[in-house]
Amino acid sequence: MSLNHRLSVAPMLDWTDRHCRYFHRLISSDIVLYTEMITTGALLHGDRTDLLAYDPSEHPVVIQLGGSNPEDLAVCAKMAEDAGYDEVNINIGCPSDRVQSGRFGACLMREPELVAECVQTMRRAVTIPVTLKTRIGVDNDADYDFFKRFVRINRDAGCKTFIVHARKALLKGLSPKQNRSIPPLQYHFPEQIKAEFPDLTVVVNGGIDTVQKAQNHLQYADGVMIGRAFWNAPWLIRDMHNALGFKPLQTNRDDILSAYQDYCVQMMDQGLSLHWLIRPILGLFHGFPGSKKWKSYLVTEAPKRKNDIRVLSEARSIVDYVS
Ligand SMILES: Cc1cc2nc3c(=O)[nH]c(=O)nc-3n(C[C@H](O)[C@H](O)[C@H](O)COP(=O)(O)O)c2cc1C
Repeated sequence: MSLNHRLSVAPMLDWTDRHCRYFHRLISSDIVLYTEMITTGALLHGDRTDLLAYDPSEHPVVIQLGGSNPEDLAVCAKMAEDAGYDEVNINIGCPSDRVQSGRFGACLMREPELVAECVQTMRRAVTIPVTLKTRIGVDNDADYDFFKRFVRINRDAGCKTFIVHARKALLKGLSPKQNRSIPPLQYHFPEQIKAEFPDLTVVVNGGIDTVQKAQNHLQYADGVMIGRAFWNAPWLIRDMHNALGFKPLQTNRDDILSAYQDYCVQMMDQGLSLHWLIRPILGLFHGFPGSKKWKSYLVTEAPKRKNDIRVLSEARSIVDYVS
């Protein structure tokens, strides 16, 4: 059974690690969480137990894979299913050089038949849904018919959910970061796809940073996926959760911080350093007086006092926020 994709946190390499996802789950009980992209090579040859690890509270949680070999993807999808992931998503949107040389990511938009073979082979191997996260095109292959052909071929292969980062990727000359802001957003692509293929679940991604924008997209799309805005201001997850039709939640920032503090203590007992754990919470007080000082206190003190949880309450005392 596929998930309710109404609201999700985008997969973000180096950002949406398991600690970040744990923290986001504390803020919203319902939002769909994604792992960072994990390549098939890493899963097949690396520390699989570590790569697949997640906290049970993270459900619903989707694993995102990077790869283009159908058999490898199928083996990895099976590992993910066995580990309990709720869905498996393939990254067809990443434009980095490293990814292009491995022949996966956004360059695969030019090979819809190969992606369809990946989808079919994976679907034969698992019962959890197989979904795609795409751009709308690459370089000069970026008209609507190109995008529609990609979607149609993969819909026919059994992919029922498309997450569309609504800008094309430029494979030469732009860094991945520039590729997330320079090509213009073209939301009419996902809007038109949803109109032409109403049976598909279409999730819009890119540049959504307010409740109002999310609500506007939900007029035509099944869901919105949000990345940087949630990283910069994680409490927006709660505002969206409460505004977009989920069961309203009442806990405040201090409740969440206290729960995350308990989690940090557990993780530090297992050998993790505090400075790694504080990254997802840096934006928690975004917009309140003292927020910048909270951040800089955490960033300065946590690396020096790797096991000292008091750093969090000391930083908290700097912010002018009353729960
Ligand atoms: C630091 C960072 C890492 C990212 N890593 C991934 C990734 O691993 N897989 C992926 O599909 N997209 C990745 N993205 C792209 C996001 O998932 C998303 O498509 C993009 O940021 C646009 O959404 P936004 O405007 O809401 O941030 C990454 C984005 C950022 C900022």
